[in-house]
Amino acid sequence: MDNRAIGFFDSGLGGLTSIPHLFKALPQERVIYFGDTARTPYGSKAVSTIRQYACQIADFLVSKNVKMLVIACNTISTTCLKELKERFPALPIVGIVSPAAEKVAASCDETNRIGVIGTKVTISSGAYRDMIRTLAPQLTVFDRATPAFVPLIEEGIIENEIMDLTIHYYMDDFIAQNKLDTLVLGCTHYPLIRKNIERLYPGLEIIDPSQEIIGRIRQALAEKDLLADESQESENVFYASDLSENFTRMIQRILETERSDLILKFKNLDL
Ligand code: DGL
Repeated sequence: MDNRAIGFFDSGLGGLTSIPHLFKALPQERVIYFGDTARTPYGSKAVSTIRQYACQIADFLVSKNVKMLVIACNTISTTCLKELKERFPALPIVGIVSPAAEKVAASCDETNRIGVIGTKVTISSGAYRDMIRTLAPQLTVFDRATPAFVPLIEEGIIENEIMDLTIHYYMDDFIAQNKLDTLVLGCTHYPLIRKNIERLYPGLEIIDPSQEIIGRIRQALAEKDLLADESQESENVFYASDLSENFTRMIQRILETERSDLILKFKNLDL
């Protein structure tokens, strides 16, 4: 039993899309979240820059005495998981790609046509394609980088024409030419446009890594006897490197709660 918080992080607000799933599955757990909203997006940056930022964030969360680190970001998971595990060998660290790849391998067969969308860095790493094919070589996987989604989502441009046009721009050909029936949302920001995608391409089976990661968190905590006590008071803290009005609005929307329930803090990692 361990009542310390779980450290969650992302380049911005995307990682928040896992939190409602976590609270539903493990309501006794507390989180300390860090969103690097001042430096987002990461997905088109150099890998060396992403590594430097990810280490700063992990150091900060570890200084808050978290019991585990959850990389709620595909871009960081595909580029920094090994490095972070070497940096903190005693700490359980969970990345977001392998739980989703395992879900694809378990739920699809050779008749499926699977697409993965993500940031430029995630897609060029080939992490999803390689992991899915290693687990299930008979599966057919296609992938595409969709880099304009994150800046629009961070701005809150979601339920409108601009987002729908951007989805059409990236996805119409990708889905039609490859005859996709299954789509992996390989960026934690993308669950925020899941409804748009479902409306524009009805019948597409969606796999959401932000949700799939929860089973892996539970398993990692249980293995080390780190699950929290049922009776603890829940107090969750959300840090952002740019605590803008937009972040506040989006966090309320994603967690479906009022500002007064949330502990929001500013933390500049460059200082
Ligand atoms: N949410 C992130 C991911 O899962 C990254 C978005 C970005 O900063 O480009 O890849």
